[in-house]
Amino acid sequence: MKNTIIAPSILASDFANLESESNMLNRSEADWFHIDIMDGRFVPNISFGIPVTAAINKHAQKPLDVHLMIVEPEKYLEDFKNAGAETLTVHYEACTHLHRTIGQIKELGCKAGVALNPHTPVSVLEDVIQDIDLVCVMSVNPGFGGQKFIENTYDKIEKLASLIKKSNSNALIEIDGGVNLDNAPKLIKAGADVLVAGSFVFNSKNPEDTIKNLKSINNS
Ligand code: DX5
Ligand code: ZN
Repeated sequence: MKNTIIAPSILASDFANLESESNMLNRSEADWFHIDIMDGRFVPNISFGIPVTAAINKHAQKPLDVHLMIVEPEKYLEDFKNAGAETLTVHYEACTHLHRTIGQIKELGCKAGVALNPHTPVSVLEDVIQDIDLVCVMSVNPGFGGQKFIENTYDKIEKLASLIKKSNSNALIEIDGGVNLDNAPKLIKAGADVLVAGSFVFNSKNPEDTIKNLKSINNS
């Protein structure tokens, strides 16, 4: 049985109580903290930045998976690394010199991730897939939590899984947006390694149980 990584997104948590929300994730079966950084330019929304990431890191006992939905991410990689990021994911659409940016992330000692918007085909990663640790497939248009899952994602995961296999890459496939207990089994079956879930976890009655339920999906 595959061990799917569960990465709850802090974006849907109670920002006035980040310490207790972090402790809940520490107690839970979550594997990573997913940290959504939005700049109001790459995406039409602003979330939070470096000091808040560092504050979460003070309490987090699990790796920070930092998703940079920002223009010119190369300017801030070191700051986010110092704020506690283990994985730094940049958007393909935000990087003119993606290969260089991936190299910078690795030089910092972080895992390098690349995110793809829903309209971006996986084939654009052909020449960098061997250099990256994670591909974040956006299953909503980035910018907001609580949006509807885009069904075309399953096909995209299958294409990405075959590209990864063909290239002998170790990249993990992460799915971000609209993930819930209905679509998670199918996502895992299609090849997802990491599931990000924001509102489905934090808006549920018992977030810890919800994480446990996501974690225990049997993907035989
Ligand atoms: C969307 C963010 C997601 C978001 C997911 O722009 O990248 O990580 O927090 O939230 P849900 O699970 O509510 O779609
Ligand atoms: Zn995200």
